Order: sequence, then C-alpha cells, then structure tokens
Amino acid sequence: MSDFWDDFEDYPLKKEYDICDFIEKIKNKIDKEFRKLNDEYHPAILGEDNGNKLYSLIREREPEVVVETGVCNGFSSSVILKALSENGKGKLYSIDLPEYIEPGEEPDGRTGAVVPATKYSGWVVPDRFRSNWTHILGNSFYETPRLMERISKIDLFIHDSDHSYEGMMFEFSMAWKHLKDNGLLMADNIDYSDAFADFANAKDRTKYRLGVMGLIIK
Ligand SMILES: C[S@@+](CC[C@H](N)C(=O)[O-])C[C@H]1O[C@@H](n2cnc3c(N)ncnc32)[C@H](O)[C@@H]1O
Repeated sequence: MSDFWDDFEDYPLKKEYDICDFIEKIKNKIDKEFRKLNDEYHPAILGEDNGNKLYSLIREREPEVVVETGVCNGFSSSVILKALSENGKGKLYSIDLPEYIEPGEEPDGRTGAVVPATKYSGWVVPDRFRSNWTHILGNSFYETPRLMERISKIDLFIHDSDHSYEGMMFEFSMAWKHLKDNGLLMADNIDYSDAFADFANAKDRTKYRLGVMGLIIK
C-alpha cells in the first residue's frame, strides 16, 4: 500500500540534537493552561521528535533570517529562537492570527490550534529569546507580503497557519520569491492538501521529510 511519504526523501541531518528537557518544560506550561479549558482541547503543537529535528536543522543551517506563519501558544517559535540563540545569530519573524478560547467553551469544530483567553499569541516563548523576535499579529494574506517587502531576503520559511490549498500556495509563492538560493521552504500538515506536493513539483525540487514536516531547497 502506498504511503503519503513514499515520494519523500528523509532530510539528511548531519547531527540530531536532543533538547527534550527544554521541549518538556515548554509543553508542560502549555498543557497546564489547557487543563483549565474544556477537556476536548489539546494543544496543536509539533511533538518532541519534530522539535528536536527543527532545532537540529537550524543549528546546522545557521539561518540569518527565519519567517514562520502560525505561532499559536508559541511552541515552534520557542524552539526556533532557542536554536538561533545558540547559533549566536539570526532573527525570527512570526505572523499569527490567533483564535482564543474561554474556559469551558465547547470545541465548536475547532481543533487545538487555540490560545487560552487568559494568555496571548506566543505567550510561552521565554523572555530571554524575545530580543531576536519580531511577532506580527494579523492575517498572513496581508502580513506576509508586507513583511517580505520589508526584509527582502530570507533563509528559512516555515508555514504552519492556514492549511487550505489556497492559503498554502499563497504563502509558498510569496516565500519562494524572497528565499535566498539554497534557502529552505518548510511546512507542517502537508497532508491536508496537495499544495506542498504541487508546489514542489512545479519548482522541480526534491521533496524532503523532516519529522512530519515537508521541506524543499531553493
Ligand atoms: C497549528 S497553530 C501553530 C502552532 C505552532 N506553529 C506551534 O508549533 O506551536 C496555527 C496558528 O495559525 C493561526 N492562523 C490560521 N490562519 C491564519 C492566517 N490566515 N494568518 C495568520 N495566522 C493564521 C491559527 O490561529 C493558529 O494560531
């Protein structure tokens, strides 16, 4: 039986770091807040394995400019910023249009991609990393083009916001225009639609897999 990932190569990380202690701390903080909500909500975050892999990738590639869409509580932002901090260089620009949830509120078709109403987008990111972080609140349809115009060239783009086909294609096209040669385009939840595969095929790029994220190289 063919598997979604059959068409992908594993991204050849030279070294895999283990930052499970850091990841555990961040996850515990988020879990503690979610326990105060409706039992049916569980935070939608990258797991331990993906966190370690994303961290390792950023240590290895030493990007100067990283852009991510989709912050939510701030798990991936924390991992990225920790890696940049340990590299001793690099800035993260994040775009997020958060959805909030009140304690006891019914799921209403939403998943765990929500922020407790007592908190704010990216609340879990440790203070010591925030000086390298520009956090933009708004819809990525408007904010991604504006940001790209401002920063011009990027080394790494990570999509984890609106997973509709149109939303993904829009962000990928914007990011591609501004990616440096040899820069990386990554996305989470690429099995939600054909957008990632279509984009990679249109650009004739090898499709890599890093944990459950897709990755192509410009
Ligand atoms: C899956 S969560 C991100 C999780 C985060 N990357 C992590 O690992 O912790 C997706 C986030 O993207 C936001 N979002 C959805 N559509 C968006 C859009 N069009 N523009 C900006 N943010 C959006 C959601 O509200 C949510 O905060």
